[in-house]
Amino acid sequence: MTAQTLGPRISVRNVTKTFDLKGEAFYALDDVSLDVADNEFITVVGPSGCGKSTLMNILAGLDSPTSGEALVDGKAVRGPGPDRGVIFQQYALFPWLTVRKNVEFGLKTAGLGAKERRAKAEHFIEMVGLSDFADALPKMLSGGMKQRCAIARAYAVDPSILLMDEPFGALDALTRVKLQEQLLDTWSREKRTVMFITHDVDEAVFLANRVVVMAARPGRIYDVIDVDLPYPRTEEMRLSPEFTELRNRVWSAVYHQTPGHRSTTAVA
Ligand SMILES: Nc1ncnc2c1ncn2[C@@H]1O[C@H](COP(=O)(O)OP(=O)(O)O)[C@@H](O)[C@H]1O
Ligand SMILES: [Mg+2]
Repeated sequence: MTAQTLGPRISVRNVTKTFDLKGEAFYALDDVSLDVADNEFITVVGPSGCGKSTLMNILAGLDSPTSGEALVDGKAVRGPGPDRGVIFQQYALFPWLTVRKNVEFGLKTAGLGAKERRAKAEHFIEMVGLSDFADALPKMLSGGMKQRCAIARAYAVDPSILLMDEPFGALDALTRVKLQEQLLDTWSREKRTVMFITHDVDEAVFLANRVVVMAARPGRIYDVIDVDLPYPRTEEMRLSPEFTELRNRVWSAVYHQTPGHRSTTAVA
């Protein structure tokens, strides 16, 4: 019996985050509430500056709300933790470590012995198709390979929650599609709760159980759209009328947003 079987894995409750902008409060997030169930795959999509990264950083424990709270398994997030794996848009690899050492790094911190680390790293390096490059340094890898290495490193520590901030944003279309399929494959085999941020509407629909659409000024949740397509998702599905309809719905929620009720509010 763990907390996650009793309630949502992630619970964002009335989270507001303001930044001081020349003496005015700028609402990066304005009263955002969201529950993510265990094993759910949520995508978050919205225009640049709508607070997607701010929301993720709060859940990762790298930032804190101005008011409201973020809970994981019913407990307020106080900092980063091994229950949450974070994958950023930029490949956060140690340039002086090989692919293998990069993937093993988090396992060392988790207290695993050398043999176990090696075996685990091997498994995940193979999963992302980098076995031939296990001893290469990051500078020898293409962008897509670096990102696959970052993914292997995040998966290796086996976090039950994956927080991914536009992880495929900088990749070419083909690599992107491959990584989307690989991610769904891993997610369905070894269930995880995923919050995946993207600005790509197609990607948002293809991956998700639910698409959370955000709006900017103030940063807020604009709409939440259920994706009632079965898994495994296939390439043919992208061409189906159901997919097209969902994509159009998400698209218009993202690109035809009505203005918010609050932009910046003067601090008295
Ligand atoms: N540390 C900060 N100081 C001031 N403003 C910030 C800070 N971090 C983010 N912002 C602002 O908050 C808004 C939301 O940012 P962000 O969460 O990065 O948006 P997104 O990831 O959706 O593009 C942006 O307008 C950004 O400029
Ligand atoms: Mg961002």
